[in-house]
Amino acid sequence: MSERMTKGSVIAQYLPERVTPVGETIAPVFAPSNIALCKYWGKRDVELNLPINSSLSISLAHLGTQTRLSVSDEDAVWLNGEKVAAQDKFARKVIAFIDLFRGPQGSPVKVETDNNIPTAAGLASSASGFAALMLAIDGFYGLKLDPQCLSAFARMGSGSASRSLYTGFVEWQMGVREDGMDSIALPLDSHWDALRIGLVKVSVAEKAVDSRSGMNRTVETAHLYQSWPLQAAADLERLHQAIADKNFTQLGETAEQNALSMHATMIAAWPPLLYWQPGSVAAMHRIWQARAEGVEVYFTMDAGPNLKLLFTAEAEAAVKHYFPDMEVIAPFG
Ligand code: ADP
Ligand code: DP6
Repeated sequence: MSERMTKGSVIAQYLPERVTPVGETIAPVFAPSNIALCKYWGKRDVELNLPINSSLSISLAHLGTQTRLSVSDEDAVWLNGEKVAAQDKFARKVIAFIDLFRGPQGSPVKVETDNNIPTAAGLASSASGFAALMLAIDGFYGLKLDPQCLSAFARMGSGSASRSLYTGFVEWQMGVREDGMDSIALPLDSHWDALRIGLVKVSVAEKAVDSRSGMNRTVETAHLYQSWPLQAAADLERLHQAIADKNFTQLGETAEQNALSMHATMIAAWPPLLYWQPGSVAAMHRIWQARAEGVEVYFTMDAGPNLKLLFTAEAEAAVKHYFPDMEVIAPFG
C-alpha cells in the first residue's frame, strides 16, 4: 500500500532546494473572494483538501484579501491592522502554511493581511485569505510557481482558495490523482457584464462552527449526504449551459437549489447544523416574494447566515426596493 501523502511531501517536489526570501519585503498582493454557484461540500482527502465534487464560482471583484510578507525578528501575524496572538488558531494556521514552503527552521516572517470582507462569517474569507497568502509566499520567496501549482497549493490551505486565484467564473475540477495535482481551478472564458451579486449581511459575527468542521461533520453523519455528489454533478452541467447561453433564469434557479441542497445535508447531520438565523429565513421569504411579484432575483448561501443575491443590472433598482441595504458587486465590471 502506498504511503499517505502529506501537504509537505507534495509541495516539496515543486520547490527549489533552498527557499529563502528574495528581499526584505514584497508589495502587497490581492486575491478576490469567491462565491460558489455549485458548492464544494465534502472531501475525499482531508489532508490535501481534495473534494468529492467539482465546483464552480464567481469572484467578488474588489472584495477579498491583501497580504504582504516581510523579514522579521519573530513570526508575527497582523490581521486588519491588529496583531494576532501567536497561539490563536488564525495565526497558527497562517504560520503552518508558510512552514510548508520555508520549512519549520526557515527565517521568521511578518505577515500583514487585510480582509475587506468580514472574517469567518460565511463570506469566504478563507478563500481569498489563503489565495493571497499563496501569492505572497510565491513573491516573497521568488518561487515563480505556475498557475496550476498556485491553485493546487492554495487549495491545501483552504479548498475554496484554489478558485480565488482568478476573477470571473472559475471551475475547480475535482481531479483523480492521489497527490491532487490535477485538483485545480481554471477560469472559464466567459464574461457576463450584466450579472450582479448583492451581499445581504444578516450577521458578520464569527460563526460557531467553521466551514471545515461543518463539512466533515456532514460527510461523517448525514445519510442525506449520499445524494449530494449527484446533485452537484447535475448542477455543474446546468450552470455551464446557463453561462454559455446567458440564461439567467437557469443560472439563478440552479445556484439557489444547489445552496439549499447543501444546507439540507447539514441540517441532516448530527449534531444538526443550521447556519441560518431568523434574519436569513426572513430574507429568503423576501426573495421568494420578489420573484412572485415578477422581480427575478435568486440567492446562494455558504456556511454562514448571510445571503448572496443573484440578479442582472436591469433588475438592480427593483431588487434594492426589497433589500435597500445590500452591497452590490459587478463581478465583471
Ligand atoms: P469564511 O466563511 O469567512 O471563509 P471559514 O470559517 O471558512 O469562514 O474560514 C475562516 C478562516 O479562514 C480563518 O479562521 C482563517 O484560518 C482563514 N482566513 C481568513 N482570512 C484570512 C487571511 N486574510 N489570511 C489567512 N487566512 C485567513
Ligand atoms: C460552503 O474552502 O472554507 O463555502 O477546504 O476545509 O478550508 P476547507 O473549506 P472551505 O469550504 C468552503 C465551503 C463553502 C462552499 C464553497 O465555497 O464551495
